[in-house]
Amino acid sequence: MAKISYLEAYWVLDSRGRPTVGCTVKSEDVTAKAFVPSGASLGLHEALEIRDREKAFAGFGVDKAIGNIKEIIAPEILGQDVFDQKGIDRKMIELDGTKNKSKLGANAILAVSLSCARLAAALNRLELFEYIAKLYKNPHPVLLPLPYINVINGGAHAKDSLDIQEFMLIPKGADSFQSAVQTASEIFFYLGEMFKTGGVGDEGGYEPQNLRSNLGTDKVKEVLEMLLKAVNKAGYEAGRDIFLGLDIAANHFYFEDKYQLSGQNLTSKELLGFYEELINNYPVISLEDGMAEQDGLGWKILTETLGNKIQLVGDDLFVTNPKLFQRGIEAKIANAIMIKLNQVGTLTETLEVIKMAQNHGYQTMIGNRSGETEDTTIADLAVGTNAGEIKSGSCDRGERTAKYNRLMEIERNLKDKAKFSG
Ligand code: PGA
Ligand code: ZN
Repeated sequence: MAKISYLEAYWVLDSRGRPTVGCTVKSEDVTAKAFVPSGASLGLHEALEIRDREKAFAGFGVDKAIGNIKEIIAPEILGQDVFDQKGIDRKMIELDGTKNKSKLGANAILAVSLSCARLAAALNRLELFEYIAKLYKNPHPVLLPLPYINVINGGAHAKDSLDIQEFMLIPKGADSFQSAVQTASEIFFYLGEMFKTGGVGDEGGYEPQNLRSNLGTDKVKEVLEMLLKAVNKAGYEAGRDIFLGLDIAANHFYFEDKYQLSGQNLTSKELLGFYEELINNYPVISLEDGMAEQDGLGWKILTETLGNKIQLVGDDLFVTNPKLFQRGIEAKIANAIMIKLNQVGTLTETLEVIKMAQNHGYQTMIGNRSGETEDTTIADLAVGTNAGEIKSGSCDRGERTAKYNRLMEIERNLKDKAKFSG
């Protein structure tokens, strides 16, 4: 037993220049801290992140969430055993008492949950991934995840860009995590030569703005062609060394039962036809949120048609929520789940959802948010649970590279024991 003797909450800046919640905890003479991330393209049923909606920070202030930690959470958590992660998380869930953590805020609760896990790891002289593995009852935390590296940004993560949110490189042919990162970085370099004008989006991928076509689906093919050109220039072979993944984030262009890509209104069936064309012509092996979360029928036909050919990831669809995920398992939709700590709000619940996925044959991908900090917890979460896959944005911008760099560090330290999920 080690009692939590000190707990402090404060704001730090995230990668969008907005405040987010940080928390520092102490026991004996050991200190640990965690910062929480923040999404922009949200699922409807995510746990709620509390923002002040006042003048400060253009409404994005987090003083209320910080106040909730100081006034409501701290008095209950101080003096608790930091090794009792489940007890700490349960206590906060009870104090909140709502379905979506809207009373205290998932941003407040997660900051405390993760800083306590980090403190417990430090007190045990364990790496965070080793401590998470202990909580998860994983005897062999040695699997480095296959990275999905998001090199082109659109949708809610870019201005006036593509409808589709993420174009990802999947360096499946690499023999280690480090060489996977090298592959992506080399391709990213040649992509940069093609996108000399224009900047990068929220996750560090290029924001194409001057593509010829105005039609949504043609634009997508044009971008895929550019990606293949960059793969080629870097000396890699698409379909052998490198595969492609897309986060369609279809929620965000689904209105009145139609998918409204710029200039096109598609039914679920038509959109599915477009995906079939894509996977027949490009090495696309993973589609995230290919249909909107409200489009249950769309998800059903998507899974029935493509579910045994490619990976279909439910992100906004499941929002790391055990109840929604259970319904999805029963309805047999998707075959993989995106795992995001702040969609559910505690480490304990996140681990439960990963376990559910692994027990039901769903692939797990640990995901970053578009608003991130230098906090690298998701890297350790991926190894601690042998999740198999991670996405942490592009291979530039410190808040993205921090996670990839942490995984390379874990891989170096594991030496011969490390396995790569390529
Ligand atoms: P978000 O984007 O963090 O803005 O939700 C990431 C994703 O959709 O996967
Ligand atoms: Zn997503």
